[in-house]
Amino acid sequence: MSKILRSWLFVPADSEKKLAKAGGLEADALILDLEDAVLPANKDKGRDLACKFLQQARTKSQIWVRINPLDSEYTSEDLAAIIALAPDGIMLPKPDGPVDIETLSRRLDRLEAKHNLPIGGIQILPVATETARAVMSLGLYPRTHLPRLLGLTWGAEDLATDIGALTNKDKNGDFAFTYRMVRSQTLLAAKAAGGQAIDTLYDNFRDKDGLRARAGCAFSEGFTGMLAIHPAQVPIINKSFTPTLAQLRHAEAVIQAFADSSGAGAVQVNGKMTDIPHLKQAQNILALYASTKE
Ligand code: COA
Ligand code: MG
Repeated sequence: MSKILRSWLFVPADSEKKLAKAGGLEADALILDLEDAVLPANKDKGRDLACKFLQQARTKSQIWVRINPLDSEYTSEDLAAIIALAPDGIMLPKPDGPVDIETLSRRLDRLEAKHNLPIGGIQILPVATETARAVMSLGLYPRTHLPRLLGLTWGAEDLATDIGALTNKDKNGDFAFTYRMVRSQTLLAAKAAGGQAIDTLYDNFRDKDGLRARAGCAFSEGFTGMLAIHPAQVPIINKSFTPTLAQLRHAEAVIQAFADSSGAGAVQVNGKMTDIPHLKQAQNILALYASTKE
């Protein structure tokens, strides 16, 4: 399993100021954005600055690049420039489904070979729900051999546009049912494919309590990380997707109880029945914690 990446910060690649700031943050992954955050007139500038960042940045964060969609006029230039500099991964916007991940993988195979990079080293994270057709293809991810796939993430903005919705929110300001359904489908498809499930961004970036609540729910549901758009969101996301000390202690107690039970399928921990699914959950918590400390 790949290292768990909790916080994924979008950085518009045409902004020198934001790129300069990004290098010093604690994001598990930076996503240098060449797509929606960069207007057509700035695409070349964004690509050039992303390359410079890949060459020069000293950062603990993984460096990913969101290229333009596969059918855009910019993609070939994006890939030709970026892959030579060996980013950790490529975020692919607006894929039609796993077939586009296969296409991108073949292009990466060729470019990695050309630049003497290890074949298969660069990973892929699709934004897997940006069109209705893409949502209908989510179930194909677990059935397709995609060794570069790190996991799946989802977005609600482009999907709303694609289906002609006026908004993706309900009366309370939460995601409307369609988008909550798509979010759950992304979680299940990512897990079924053996990958990480990355929740979408929280756009009200000044609302720290709201983000903390959203991220906390996502972690308890099984998401392993979340997209971010502002530096202030990064520490909140990192903390929310790291098991708490209480969760760790409980997991250790469950594992110890099974170790002491000499082969029983069910034991008691703090007066509660605990069986094999709880043991697996406890092992999962310890593995998650260990991954964040790597
Ligand atoms: N990455 C790196 N640095 C960022 C940043 C980001 N995503 N967002 C803000 N910053 C920097 C600012 O440049 C500023 O730097 P300074 O301390 O050197 O002045 C600092 O963080 C504080 O920013 P703030 O003034 O609070 O916000 P802002 O008004 O400059 O920017 C946004 C607000 C929403 C425009 C900005 O956060 C942003 O561009 N986010 C990413 C958007 C994006 O990529 N969208 C596409 C994916 S959906
Ligand atoms: Mg978009």
